[in-house]
Amino acid sequence: MEKESLPAAARHLAAGTFSDRTAVVTGGGTGLGLEISRGLAALGARVVIASRSAEHHAGLLGEGARHGWRVDARELDVREPTAVERCAREIEETTGGVDMLVNNAAGNFLCPAERLSARAWRSVLGIVLDGTFYCSRYFGRQMIERGEGGQILNIVATYAWTGMPGVVHSASAKAGVLAMTRSLAVEWARFGIRTHAVAPGPFHSAGAAERLWPGEGTRERMERQVPLGRFATAEEVAVQCLHLLSPASAYLNGECLVVDGGLSLGRNMWAPGQTRGS
Ligand code: COA
Repeated sequence: MEKESLPAAARHLAAGTFSDRTAVVTGGGTGLGLEISRGLAALGARVVIASRSAEHHAGLLGEGARHGWRVDARELDVREPTAVERCAREIEETTGGVDMLVNNAAGNFLCPAERLSARAWRSVLGIVLDGTFYCSRYFGRQMIERGEGGQILNIVATYAWTGMPGVVHSASAKAGVLAMTRSLAVEWARFGIRTHAVAPGPFHSAGAAERLWPGEGTRERMERQVPLGRFATAEEVAVQCLHLLSPASAYLNGECLVVDGGLSLGRNMWAPGQTRGS
């Protein structure tokens, strides 16, 4: 593929970077997961996306057929440990084994904590925290048994350590995933498995826009708070994920890479008006 016709996230890495690798991307049919899946596939990986809705699979599968990418999809609710175990076994049988797991599937919405129902809490914790553990556990165990190492990449958020009003469910779950990332980075390093996280700030995605910043006014107000003066694109976040998964990051382990244009950094000692273009 010509460099210009590669997906944007794949243009910064060498062709064939992932050619001998197999990746599973949860929630890989939409938003950031789709950009990561596209990038991996365009750079040669065999990619299996796993998500609840088969409707979300069609985009990547169609694109894969057009470009000759090795892509496949499975219906999976990551909250169900037996389904995750079965899915991991099936993917191992068809691909020979998974080298990279991207835990990207998430659930989120704005809701004041005092109105958040127990089921709503459980739903988000189930997808984000339990789902990340179940996938890491079953795909990670395969990596351990194959003895060829591997990589796990977890998508968290900067509010894992700052907290964030309105998303106590997601912030609590992401904080757990960050602790899981660092725990597994040490525990599984002896098997050659490196575990990382990427913490995006707000980035353009239809799902997030609808759930987290409904309305142009809210988005513009939020963008003014970003030192770089804008939200990221999903491709700009995905390229950092690809870089962490690539051999260029062979000595990184347990890292959490923040991709937020400086939004989560301190600023209280200086007046506003310091963002780019303001
Ligand atoms: N505000 C408050 N509560 C909400 C809510 C909202 N916006 N959306 C869902 N809930 C509650 C439901 O009311 C329900 O609780 P209840 O039975 O006590 O009323 C509970 O959450 C579960 O909802 P349900 O729709 O049955 O769960 P689900 O498992 O099908 O969906 C969600 C999971 C809720 C996380 C849903 O938003 C989802 O599927 N998201 C996937 C995509 C996503 O969020 N991506 C992240 C983009 S930033």
